[in-house]
Amino acid sequence: MRIVSVGGGPGGLYFAILMKRAHPECAITVHERNRPDDTFGFGVVFSDETLGNFEQADPESFAQITKHFAYWGDIETFVGDACVRSTGHGFCGLSRMRLLQIFHERCRQLGVELRFGSEIKNLAEAAAAGGGPAGPPDLILAADGLNSALRDEFADHFRPTIEWGRARFCWLGARRQLGAFTFIFKETEWGLFQVHSYPFEKNLSTWIVECDESTWRAAGLDQATEADTVAFCSDLFAEHLQGAELVTNRSVWRSFPTVRNERWHHGNVVLIGDAAHTAHFSIGSGTKLAMEDAIALAAAFGRHAPRGGSGGAKWDVPAVLADYQESRYVDCLKIQKAARVSQDWFENSSRYLQQDPLQFTFNLLTRSKKITWENLRQRDPALVDRVDRWFADQAAVHAPPPGAPLHSAYGNRKAQGWDDAPAAGTAAAATAAPMAPTAPAAPTVAASANPVGERSIEAIPDADKAPPALKAPPPLFAPLRLRGLQLANRVVVSPMCQYSATDGAPGEWHLVHLGSRAVGGAGLVIGEMTDVTPHGRITLGCTGMWNDAQAAAWGRIVAFVHGNSGAAIGLQLAHAGRKGSCTLPWEGGEPLRDGRAWPTLAPTAEPFAPGWPVPRAMDRADMDAVRDAFVAAARRADHAGFDLIELHMAHGYLLSSFISPLSNRRTDEYGGSLDHRLRYPLEVFDAVRAAWPAHKPMSVRISATDWLDDEGGLTAADSVVVARTLRERGLDVLDVSSAGNSPRSQPVYGRMYQVPFADRIRHEVGGGLAVMSVGAIQGPDHVNTILAAGRADLCALARPHLVDPHVVLGASAAYEYVAQPWPKQYLPAKPKPK
Ligand SMILES: Cc1cc2nc3c(=O)[nH]c(=O)nc-3n(C[C@H](O)[C@H](O)[C@H](O)COP(=O)(O)OP(=O)(O)OC[C@H]3O[C@@H](n4cnc5c(N)ncnc54)[C@H](O)[C@@H]3O)c2cc1C
Ligand SMILES: Cc1cc2nc3c(=O)[nH]c(=O)nc-3n(C[C@H](O)[C@H](O)[C@H](O)COP(=O)(O)O)c2cc1C
Repeated sequence: MRIVSVGGGPGGLYFAILMKRAHPECAITVHERNRPDDTFGFGVVFSDETLGNFEQADPESFAQITKHFAYWGDIETFVGDACVRSTGHGFCGLSRMRLLQIFHERCRQLGVELRFGSEIKNLAEAAAAGGGPAGPPDLILAADGLNSALRDEFADHFRPTIEWGRARFCWLGARRQLGAFTFIFKETEWGLFQVHSYPFEKNLSTWIVECDESTWRAAGLDQATEADTVAFCSDLFAEHLQGAELVTNRSVWRSFPTVRNERWHHGNVVLIGDAAHTAHFSIGSGTKLAMEDAIALAAAFGRHAPRGGSGGAKWDVPAVLADYQESRYVDCLKIQKAARVSQDWFENSSRYLQQDPLQFTFNLLTRSKKITWENLRQRDPALVDRVDRWFADQAAVHAPPPGAPLHSAYGNRKAQGWDDAPAAGTAAAATAAPMAPTAPAAPTVAASANPVGERSIEAIPDADKAPPALKAPPPLFAPLRLRGLQLANRVVVSPMCQYSATDGAPGEWHLVHLGSRAVGGAGLVIGEMTDVTPHGRITLGCTGMWNDAQAAAWGRIVAFVHGNSGAAIGLQLAHAGRKGSCTLPWEGGEPLRDGRAWPTLAPTAEPFAPGWPVPRAMDRADMDAVRDAFVAAARRADHAGFDLIELHMAHGYLLSSFISPLSNRRTDEYGGSLDHRLRYPLEVFDAVRAAWPAHKPMSVRISATDWLDDEGGLTAADSVVVARTLRERGLDVLDVSSAGNSPRSQPVYGRMYQVPFADRIRHEVGGGLAVMSVGAIQGPDHVNTILAAGRADLCALARPHLVDPHVVLGASAAYEYVAQPWPKQYLPAKPKPK
């Protein structure tokens, strides 16, 4: 078997090592256009997790890598005048040059042929270079990096895409030994600059400077030479560099390209490393990805028995390569997804600068969703304790007046049995100082707890160990005041249609369903999509609020919730529009085709999907009638005792379909631009707000995006305008969901997948609007993460509450949070104050 690697970066070299090690009979040649000591960039960084894979794959190179490592466990974040240090992380770095030298040496030991200064521009050259008397090579590795020539040659087959980042960055080095992974956020007259920096060798650190395009241009860096860049950055970061020199190595300003390929193999050619995929440097994973590709490719060869006899082992190479892609593709997509989220965070970091430095740091550390509140607590309990205390103190500002019956203990840690004054010498005591600034910038750096090289991998905390005891209440339990309503905590039972009503009236099922979830401890339970007219229902099983019998049935549920739990109860009022007149979900959820069907209404006479009934385009009389029905339903909800109402302007139902340009194609003043499309939903909102008591809050649920930007659908930027407009009209809570207006929507699902929309609205709109996030928020850990990072004020959980109605009681027991109200019948299970 003859193998040619085009490219001698980490991917090509590491595969050569692993393959030669496992199959010494293979003849492997690596062609690298550069000289052995001629490489771009400075250091590469690996996390602890990554190292385990390398140790298993090739202990010899692993030993060399670890010998040259700089270790550190801290992350320091400089923002404004503050520095917040987080500890307990495990990283190591080494220079890219050293890594490649280790691989060169290992290749030589194993008998891999290295040819430097050998550029291979296409398949024919690769075939010729690796061919011998027995014909062309059996395997050609396209390990030629980001701008892979082999990938471009077969672009029709590999189908690559390149998504360019919005920021500009420049990879520099600093002749300074940092003691921690260091992030610096520096506001200037031109805009925000940020530095990602980490040590990798004695007296050398990687120093990547990043800013947005307009900042870059305003600062004149678009015209800068390398020397100009160094002069500019040396001046800008003088206090952090402390006299250290900045050094260059092809340090041009670039945009980050995220490379993806639909296919990674073609005949006997395989893409590996950056040629196949890239991941933003802020999660430090490009080299790891390339090396893990090499591991996966070598493992795929190991899974397939070579055929043939005396002429040497021969594999069914295309089958091996298909196996390699199959085994690796999804993992890479996940890493690219996390990298994309992290990249987005840095591209929008100026949005968070108004956050307290402690919250900003928590936000930064949890940005890619890989680290949550709970993970971080494992690594750095003292930091999370400080964040929780800070959050509790903020929330206590909004706590109920003295003597209020519920949750008045929140913010008073002693009353709850929380340890308010940790003993001297404990981790909490060490970090209980006022949080911003925690320390002046320069001394903090100089006094870093873990100088490079002092840590060993074993010293890094074990992520599986039991979490440390809490010192402050988790953010989930913070109360929230909305007008005259005090919510006990930040967990909301999201509205969930039960399709079990009779003539629109909720019955026993609804009493038990909503009652048990209220008993389960959520701060707010929102009753399902409840329609304001009979023709506004999705199905005949939907609840309504158009007559007094329905109001009385709802009143019974409200009375149970108020009488037996600490939860507030809201109701979601809606009109299904063109998505109405359907069978029950468990009967297919399709449009009714028999005599039970009813005419539907919409902004435009276009069906929701092909084959669905064509709705009637609403005229002024329809609009008045529906608006008045919303008002009448709101009055009934008030009489029934509801604490809050939520207007459903999401998921493609009537009001939502006015907002989205995909479903509203009117040519009158209710269609066209966003402010015109918003006009009718706002008329309904204003009329309902006027009828709903002033002391009771209102929520609106929106679909923040149609997930069809390319087709002109509603975008996340539009939803900021929607949010701002509603806030100006007195909206208290915006419940941020997505999609539903078109069956073609392609949501990118994943845990907490709608949080970025809530986050953006919360930071760009502000002004006291409480933002509720929803969608795959899987439990208390996610809730704590979202709240502590400031991404939302409330978290709505739907399906998790179907699995366990007692999500909050469970969290109260797990975290021993005693101020959570428990039903008296369940008190034996409640944690006792210590
Ligand atoms: C600013 C920045 C910071 C980064 N920081 C990190 C980090 O901290 N940690 C990390 O893991 N990763 C980091 N990366 C990513 C990392 O450098 C790459 O992802 C990694 O090097 C990919 O390895 P590779 O072998 O696929 O490609 P490369 O390392 O790019 O290697 C490809 C090789 O092929 C050679 N070549 C190209 N064309 C030809 C040809 N026609 N003929 C012969 N040879 C050819 C090139 O000279 C090169 O040596 C960073 C990247 C950037 C841009
Ligand atoms: C059974 C069920 C019924 C739902 N009914 C409604 C509804 O009445 N109104 C609404 O706005 N969303 C409704 N949704 C959507 C949820 O409120 C929530 O937005 C969605 O399920 C995502 O949250 P989750 O990942 O926590 O489930 C429903 C979801 C489920 C699972």
